[in-house]
Amino acid sequence: MNDSAPRIGVFDSGFGGLTVLRALLEQLPAAEFCYLGDSARLPYGSKSRETVARYAVESARLLESNGAQYLVIACNTASALALDAIRASVRVPVLGVIETGADSAAAVSVSRDVLVLATDATVRSHAYGAACAERGMRALEQACPLLVPLIEEGWTTANPDAERAAVTRRVLQLYLEEAAARARTAGLAPDTLLLGCTHYPLLRDMLGSLAPAGMRILDSAQTTARRVQRELGAMPPTTTPASATTGRCRFLATDSVEKFQSLGSRFLGQPIREVEHIDLGG
Ligand code: DGL
Repeated sequence: MNDSAPRIGVFDSGFGGLTVLRALLEQLPAAEFCYLGDSARLPYGSKSRETVARYAVESARLLESNGAQYLVIACNTASALALDAIRASVRVPVLGVIETGADSAAAVSVSRDVLVLATDATVRSHAYGAACAERGMRALEQACPLLVPLIEEGWTTANPDAERAAVTRRVLQLYLEEAAARARTAGLAPDTLLLGCTHYPLLRDMLGSLAPAGMRILDSAQTTARRVQRELGAMPPTTTPASATTGRCRFLATDSVEKFQSLGSRFLGQPIREVEHIDLGG
């Protein structure tokens, strides 16, 4: 370990946060990372605030005790439901992805109406609604509870079996139709679609063909990485491909390391070779 490199802990309920880690690895060439996926207790998106807060606090403390000097809560659900609880339980700075996601929408939305797709728990918290309102925007928050399991099963356009991708496409279409009907009723005209769940970037191409023409599709990964970079000091962005960088990351998972390796590689976009199993209790 390089003693002068900033040590960043990245937390997610499982694998999806690796989409955020990917952006962090590219944007922060001198940093070292410890990624914790609480894969034994996912999904967080269908659980209560109390349960998510308990799990997230335990995970954040573990990352802090492993030397993290800064924490990124890559999980939208944990950021929406447990950010205050996490901040109260550790001594290091903590960044969640709701604020950075809302920042990316605020930077591009002209109509100031934003469609947010997220887990059930994130939508129920209205964290995105509040963050968008603070930035002078209105958010239409649409829960898409079937998408996480479909993505984890690999039923995306990357699946060689086109029928499987077609199922996910149809589910996504139904959610978008429901959101469009709700937007009409509420008098909203979203021009920006914010992916408010770590998994949804894997559906970006599908969304691109289903969303209304001209709608901008955003996730929080790049904005989060730039914010961390700003907060940790002026380190220039790298042009190093992420594939050259996983040596700077330690991976911890609370469930099967084999499953983390195979599923995680899809989210990170490169092989994950070493994963350590840790136990966080029940
Ligand atoms: N990581 C979660 C999120 O971004 C999705 C997966 C889960 O429900 O645990 O909301």
